[in-house]
Amino acid sequence: MLVNKKIVLGITGGIAAYKAAELTRVLVKAGAQVRVIMTKSAMEFITPLTMQTLSQGPVYTDMFAPAGEFDMAHISLADFADAFLIAPATGNIIGKLASGIADDLLTTTLMAQNKPTLVCPAMNDKMLANPVVQDNIKKLRQYGYEVMESAVGELACKTSGAGRLPDIPVIIDALESLLTPKDYEGEEVLVTAGPTQEPLDPVRYITNLSSGKMGYALATAARHRGASVTLISGPCAMPAPPGVKIINVRTALEMHEAVMKNFTKATVIVKAAAVADYRPESVSEEKIKKSKGLAGIRLVPNPDIIAEIGAKKTRGILVGFAMETQELLANARLKLARKKMDMIVANSLREEGAGFGTDTNIVTIIDSNGKEIRLDKMTKSQVAHRILDHVKTLKKKKGPAKRK
Ligand code: PMT
Repeated sequence: MLVNKKIVLGITGGIAAYKAAELTRVLVKAGAQVRVIMTKSAMEFITPLTMQTLSQGPVYTDMFAPAGEFDMAHISLADFADAFLIAPATGNIIGKLASGIADDLLTTTLMAQNKPTLVCPAMNDKMLANPVVQDNIKKLRQYGYEVMESAVGELACKTSGAGRLPDIPVIIDALESLLTPKDYEGEEVLVTAGPTQEPLDPVRYITNLSSGKMGYALATAARHRGASVTLISGPCAMPAPPGVKIINVRTALEMHEAVMKNFTKATVIVKAAAVADYRPESVSEEKIKKSKGLAGIRLVPNPDIIAEIGAKKTRGILVGFAMETQELLANARLKLARKKMDMIVANSLREEGAGFGTDTNIVTIIDSNGKEIRLDKMTKSQVAHRILDHVKTLKKKKGPAKRK
């Protein structure tokens, strides 16, 4: 989402200014083009050289510097930006923005622009709680700035409370959301993700290699596009995506129950989870002892969750995944028809950069009209957006999905 996006990062003078260095590194790594404006106070905490090195571009500090990259920096930076990010934002910059003060390069540039702007306050907890600061934050929101909630925790002044700069992944998520058109507003999207674990005894279980990355990317993409998202997740190490209702489950039976409770109101259901087809018939209450020997494990089938929804569902779009090691498209087409999906996303374990655990995927989207779209290798976030794009096309064509 940040690939080729032009971000102007404004750094103001608080101790969290040092975190702007890592924030810049992450933005550049995500493919963004970053230009930095630093206030005089920011330069007391971190040097322009650090920011220039990490942003791989010029750093702007002086309203009256001779022309460099741009003739009139404050106007040109305002035109250049797809979005502005103020991190950290002190009480001072928040006050100036709320009051229309333009007395340095950063405030003047911000006055001269109308791009999406994300403000990330970071200051002492008492400063943040000050009614004037709170009023100013309220004003900024009314003026259309996106102002993040500060994180709660240990502060540089050895106290604890609200006032920390939000964690970098949380800032990146908010910035991506700000830059994403809200074409899923009003949609209720249900996503399943991750593996299931089918216990044998208190210490052992059967599972698979799903990391949850594909499903979490879908949940995040749908939320960035304005949907209300419920994510039913098997056990995985991924942090819960901000702004998404998450229901954690362990077994296929638990996932079945959670999906059945939640699917009726969903307008889009995407089943990216790798659900175990079978579970041990019985679960030993005690650890199975090696000395007793194990003749075998009797397995019984789990409910096929997506097939059950396919048979019952009368509205919305149903999207499944097919993970195959052979005959990818033929098997995917069969699943699409048998489980009465509107669309299936086929991915193969045999292709490098596709399937379990990777940050990328290589998929073919097949819909129930017979349309097939092969996508090149791309990040799971990009795949997620392409899937949501195609869901929108299907919705437009069909209106509410009719089951066969
Ligand atoms: O989590 P990652 O590491 O990012 O990996 C992503 C992924 C490979 C897990 C994902 O892209 C994927 O392919 N998910 C589906 C894997 C799978 O279980 O495929 P399947 O062909 O066995 O199942 C077909 C469809 O039926 C799937 O939508 C599955 O969620 C659903 N299903 C399967 C079994 C079952 N009992 N109930 C189901 O609902």
